[in-house]
Amino acid sequence: MGARAPSGACTVIVGCQWGDEGKGKVVDVLAGDMDVIARYQGGANAGHTVHVGEHHIVLHQVPSGVLHPEKRCLLGNGVVLDVDQFFGELDGLAERGVDAGGRIGISTRAHVVFPYHKALDVAAEAAARRKIGTTGRGIGPAYEAKTGRRGVRIADLLDRARGADRVGRGIEWARERLRQLGADPDTAGTVEDSLALAHRLPAVATDVGDEIARALAAGKRVLLEGAQGTALDVDHGTYPYVTSSNTTAGGAAVGVGIGPTAIDSVVGVVKAYTTRVGNGPLPSAFDAGMDEHIRELGAEFGATTGRPRRCGWFDAVLAAYSSRVNGLTGIAVTKLDVLDTLPELKIATGYRIDGDAHSLFPACVRELERAEPVYETLPGWQSPTTEARAMSDLPPNARAYLHRIEELGGAPIVMVSVGTRRSQVIRGR
Ligand code: GDP
Ligand code: IMO
Ligand code: MG
Repeated sequence: MGARAPSGACTVIVGCQWGDEGKGKVVDVLAGDMDVIARYQGGANAGHTVHVGEHHIVLHQVPSGVLHPEKRCLLGNGVVLDVDQFFGELDGLAERGVDAGGRIGISTRAHVVFPYHKALDVAAEAAARRKIGTTGRGIGPAYEAKTGRRGVRIADLLDRARGADRVGRGIEWARERLRQLGADPDTAGTVEDSLALAHRLPAVATDVGDEIARALAAGKRVLLEGAQGTALDVDHGTYPYVTSSNTTAGGAAVGVGIGPTAIDSVVGVVKAYTTRVGNGPLPSAFDAGMDEHIRELGAEFGATTGRPRRCGWFDAVLAAYSSRVNGLTGIAVTKLDVLDTLPELKIATGYRIDGDAHSLFPACVRELERAEPVYETLPGWQSPTTEARAMSDLPPNARAYLHRIEELGGAPIVMVSVGTRRSQVIRGR
């Protein structure tokens, strides 16, 4: 047997609630220690906010490590790529002095989101009796095409004639479906619309799995960035009020093309309270007054759609479930500072459903809709945490709150975020 190749480290960052946990902030903080940052699923439905110096940027397609110069940024096969959005974002970054063009790569195996997928998304929502409240970014229809074996991949678009043929067939399929939905088939657009920026793809197309495997073999450090959150996972989330991809850590290996044994650690991101945008149950929702209060304090408006996020108490039933589903090795808690003024805080430690006690997150959304949280109350700290840079800087009641999240979440807290900026963070223990 030969000597083992040197091996780097591979960390997954995964959202553990309904998205918008602050993954962009956490990835940006960790990216300083990484060589490669790769998105593994989702598309432009994601809105990841990064706030560094004068930059306050919402990234939809480009990985959140991009503001660190020289880091390799990749989009894996599990991502669905909106080509216009992607190049628009790259151009926008270049205008702000962030030159990412030469260090970004997209998997040739990734599927593409075309204007006709967006038209289908909007038309399906308009026609649906039970609306999901999607972001309208074409995500569901693009993943449906993928699993239906009708999708168009980056590799197809590298050959103009082949790409035009496959897109033409996609548009025909979409026009038919739009008619069935009672929508205007012309909203599917033309092949030319769909392929307007395809000529820029050869410069960025790559084999992401191969790149990551080589980076790890060379002793480099790789971060796999999740989008959305565990409760929006198509298998493990609050189905059907979910997105159309595997957001959970298992999706990371599949979504970039490495084996699960290559992953060393999984850090789950949780907000210090809970939010949800789009439809579907939120068992620990605040009452109306508190909902508005926290939305204002935490600026809880969707980074992609601008919709108000519903807010609630920290849900430890979901946190424990997420910890198990993702195999968390660590937890990053964000937005602790948003709770600084509250006299007391609640944590949902169980549910009562039809009078019975439940400690497990239910599989069926109808049960979750009837779930009444069982709360534990903790005292607030009522002092600012935004300047804290070590756990010892935090007020004792804030530490006790975090300790309870750690106990109930079943993994150690490895990071606490106390503001939007890169510097506003407590790292390690
Ligand atoms: P993501 O989708 O998980 O990346 O999260 P979003 O960017 O959609 O939403 C998180 C929001 O919270 C953004 O506006 C961030 O700037 C902000 N944020 C992140 N961490 C903190 C924090 O610790 N404190 C405060 N006040 N805001 C934060
Ligand atoms: P990030 O990565 C929060 C929600 C939508 C809707 C459901 C399905 O920023 O955390 P889709 O457009 O994916 O078909 O919508 O999922 N959703 C998100 N909610 N954060 C996100 O991403 C989301 N991406 C999708 O609101 O309820
Ligand atoms: Mg977001």
